[in-house]
Amino acid sequence: MADKKTFYITTPIYYPSGNMTIGHTYTTVAADTMTRFKKMQGYDTYFLTGTDEHGQKIEKKAAEAGVTPIQYVDKIVAETKELWKLMNIEYDDFIRTSEERHTKIVQKIFRKFYEQGDIYKAEYEGMYCTPCESFWTPTQLVEKDGEKVCPDCGRPCQPMKEESYFFRMSKYQDWMIDYIETHPDFIQPAKRANEMLNNFLKPGLQDLCVSRTSVKWGIPVDFDEKHTVYVWIDALSNYITALGYGTDHDELFKKYWPADVHLVGKEIVRFHTIYWPIMLHALGLPLPKQVFGHGWLLFGADRMSKSKGNVVYPQPIVARYGVDSLRYYLMREMPFGADGNYTNESFLNRMNADLANDLGNLVSRTVAMIEKYFGGVTPEWTGAVDEALDTPLREHCAALPALVSEQMDKLQFSQALAEIWKVIGECNKYIDQTQPWVLGKDPEKKDRLANVLLTLAECVRFVAVLIQPFMPSTPARIFEQLGVQDEALKAWDSLSAFGQLPAGIKVCKGDALFPRIDVKKELEALSGKEEKKEEKNTPQPEKKEQKPEKKEKKKVEIPEGCIGFDDFEKIKLRVARVITCERVEKSEKLLKFRLSLGDEERTVLSGIAKFHNANGWKKAKSC
Ligand code: MSP
Repeated sequence: MADKKTFYITTPIYYPSGNMTIGHTYTTVAADTMTRFKKMQGYDTYFLTGTDEHGQKIEKKAAEAGVTPIQYVDKIVAETKELWKLMNIEYDDFIRTSEERHTKIVQKIFRKFYEQGDIYKAEYEGMYCTPCESFWTPTQLVEKDGEKVCPDCGRPCQPMKEESYFFRMSKYQDWMIDYIETHPDFIQPAKRANEMLNNFLKPGLQDLCVSRTSVKWGIPVDFDEKHTVYVWIDALSNYITALGYGTDHDELFKKYWPADVHLVGKEIVRFHTIYWPIMLHALGLPLPKQVFGHGWLLFGADRMSKSKGNVVYPQPIVARYGVDSLRYYLMREMPFGADGNYTNESFLNRMNADLANDLGNLVSRTVAMIEKYFGGVTPEWTGAVDEALDTPLREHCAALPALVSEQMDKLQFSQALAEIWKVIGECNKYIDQTQPWVLGKDPEKKDRLANVLLTLAECVRFVAVLIQPFMPSTPARIFEQLGVQDEALKAWDSLSAFGQLPAGIKVCKGDALFPRIDVKKELEALSGKEEKKEEKNTPQPEKKEQKPEKKEKKKVEIPEGCIGFDDFEKIKLRVARVITCERVEKSEKLLKFRLSLGDEERTVLSGIAKFHNANGWKKAKSC
């Protein structure tokens, strides 16, 4: 049998200077989603994450906490691993740069660079940004409030002078420019490639200072022990040391290198698309196929960051709304590559609109109608009663895997979800158009009703399969309600043709997949929580359970075509003036209204055309 195609993906290794935020969670969820997607498609995947533990910042933090650097990072690493477990992250390896498997190989790499003349020793004088661990030339600094600050983080830099080793980056400048220009997929989004070329490479690449005598918490240069290896040389190497590069056990390296994609935040694209490729080239190794620089999750107008103190942590959100809701939001809210704002309000609104209304309602209505009209057992397909409006939905759903795959190959998570939600929206519209509750009243329409409900159930199955990488626990609940037990029907290959859901399987209505949320109430609860969290700075999830509390409710039979009291309670009645009312072309049922609510105007479609005549409004049949 031919070997499976491999797929190697990495996140940056995070600084364990404080607890991981929703920003770090964003990248990690993206990598996990991508891995699950590729795995579902049959790839042999490898997903690496980890922590970047050396450097002055950690040294300082540990000293402030009165512990050794390793004691300090051990605790944060343990909490990080807990968080990834909570977020349902399934990595293959978690590398820590303090591990011997890493430090030994970094020393070997550094020595090789020195021996082949890529590294030389000289005196360094420059401006240093401690939080970013970066040296800057005077021309690279930017002006802020009359002060020269770090171009990455905007904080002040200090003058620094020391004996250092330097990497001859300048030697590789032309090769690097040529590589980027001839490999348009290497840096994504493409505009980041232009930034690298125009801001760093074309103005002239400086040699890079790659050792420190002032930092003790680092990997010693083994031939000159008063120096430690510069953190970026140390950190970037993780992508190959984790695979056993340079050891006798380099099977993983042989199998998975070069990486298919390094996911990185936009502020560290420079390190990954200039220094890292040059290091690899100097080692005679192939370059990663792609570096994708994603945008930032902002909080207000600012980048969320531990050092700025405007941080949102995922644990309280997950504790209250479940992990899938947060994973969905992170992948849906902003295009991968662009910045976006995290707000509790946008999160809660998405939960209501996309998850509770669109997806949740579709699943519950489909299952409830199979229960009601077919005793809870899926009926036989009977092609003879198909109608014209079935085809577009079925064809769209059949095309969905390819549409999603196309977006995923571009790491456009948000677009991939948008494609899935288009089909969900179409299904909900199809219910309104086919009106199964009307078909259900006419015994002669039983076959037609069967086809309508099977079309819906099959669409739901497609959706459940496709959202698995994004929301690892929800699909199991959908499959349970749909009665799909056969693993083959949950797999990617089962989406090769529409209409595979068999007759005779028993559906089973369950709890709502996602509860509808009272946004105002939840916003108050969340803001209360955030205040508490800021005081402690180490947020603890209040409760671990992921489902909201269920109230015991008395089951009441709701007459057909009517809504229950619970739904009635959610209705807000408004009086509106009808400005215009017209029939919708090609529809017998729909009227289009333009309504004035006094302070705003709205367009509303309503299926009441048959109750309307020239003399005014006929009273609709009441229930
Ligand atoms: N240790 C380096 C990476 C070395 S990789 C060889 C580092 N660490 S970090 O902890 O500061 O950031 C790691 C990643 O998390 C970066 O890609 C950064 O962009 C991402 N994020 C941290 N906060 C973020 C947001 N608020 N939004 C999006 N991503 C953010 O840099």
